[in-house]
Amino acid sequence: MTPLLAVDNLHLWYDAGGGRVVRAVDNVSFALEKKGEAIGIVGESGSGKSSLALALMRMPPKNVARFDGSVRLAGQELTTLSDDQFRREIRWRRIAMVFQGAMSALNPVLRVGEQIAEPLLLDHRYDKPAAGARVRDLLERVGLPADFASRYPHELSGGQRQRVGIATALALDPDVLILDEPTSALDVSVQAQILNLLKDLKDAPGISMLFITHDIGLASDLCDRIAVAYAGEHMELGPAERVLVTPHHPYSQLLLASLPRLHSDVPPRPMPGDPPDLSALPKGCRFRPRCPYAFDACREHPPAIPLPDAGHARCWLNDRNVAGARFETHLPTEARLD
Ligand SMILES: Nc1ncnc2c1ncn2[C@@H]1O[C@H](COP(=O)(O)OP(=O)(O)OP(=O)(O)O)[C@@H](O)[C@H]1O
Ligand code: SF4
Ligand SMILES: [Mg+2]
Repeated sequence: MTPLLAVDNLHLWYDAGGGRVVRAVDNVSFALEKKGEAIGIVGESGSGKSSLALALMRMPPKNVARFDGSVRLAGQELTTLSDDQFRREIRWRRIAMVFQGAMSALNPVLRVGEQIAEPLLLDHRYDKPAAGARVRDLLERVGLPADFASRYPHELSGGQRQRVGIATALALDPDVLILDEPTSALDVSVQAQILNLLKDLKDAPGISMLFITHDIGLASDLCDRIAVAYAGEHMELGPAERVLVTPHHPYSQLLLASLPRLHSDVPPRPMPGDPPDLSALPKGCRFRPRCPYAFDACREHPPAIPLPDAGHARCWLNDRNVAGARFETHLPTEARLD
């Protein structure tokens, strides 16, 4: 079956001046297989999560050093479309996004209804009355009363503003919704409400999602699969429950071990070391300076090694042909770290 969104060997590098090139998205591949599927992209700050979103929306910053790869939407290659075609046919119509920090970026002088109507009025199918009716529908769909259309952003709570951001992204019925840290500035109970809204949107009308977060727990609650981003690469990709229970990459494992647990006496372990400078990456495996399992093979850069669940792990320990590789994938996380 043709995947809904297939991303292959995507690169987005930035020219940081002085000969420095930042590899923010570096050879990233994954697919959203079908309607209503969600992939969580998790990882520390600076791992390239927002850059991936901007690459998919074709909204890179000006200082691009490299931008290539393949992005297919229902089989259609998007990277060969002109900028004009992409703007007219794809951005907001087929792939939409809620930007990182969007809830604090609403225009303070525009009423909520006017903000949501903006993308509608750019579309010839809507005149003003039709846009008004659509705005009211969208508000209700994201769990807000229709009369919120006449309110200003300062009259709304953080959670309500985030719902407005989601309503705006849904305006033109996209197939794929990218959400960049949609809950990170919200308190836990409001976070849960937004997550429930996203679950509903995933079930019906079956919107597919890329859910970007630094919180692997939150991602596993919503997402079918999880990609673990590190230093511009996706170190691991797999079904959410498998990545949580038997991570196949030491970085995923350490990320999980750094989380506090409600029902365990095992205290969280702080992640050792710091992420690398993306313009001066370590030779070989990018995680090597922080990896408790590093061995000889890790001087070579590991490829994405396929796993039986159609995911991958960029770690030599998963390659049975490599001397010294010994990933005991079925041991619980605590045991492997001891
Ligand atoms: N226009 C730019 N020019 C140079 N470097 C950039 C540019 N934009 C982002 N970067 C760098 O690219 C890397 C990836 O940034 P990105 O914003 O994609 O990370 P992120 O995973 O979204 O981080 P966060 O969790 O903090 O939002 C970072 O090192 C960042 O400093
Ligand atoms: S390839 Fe080596 S250094 Fe990299 S994560 Fe695997 S064991 Fe660690
Ligand atoms: Mg970001």
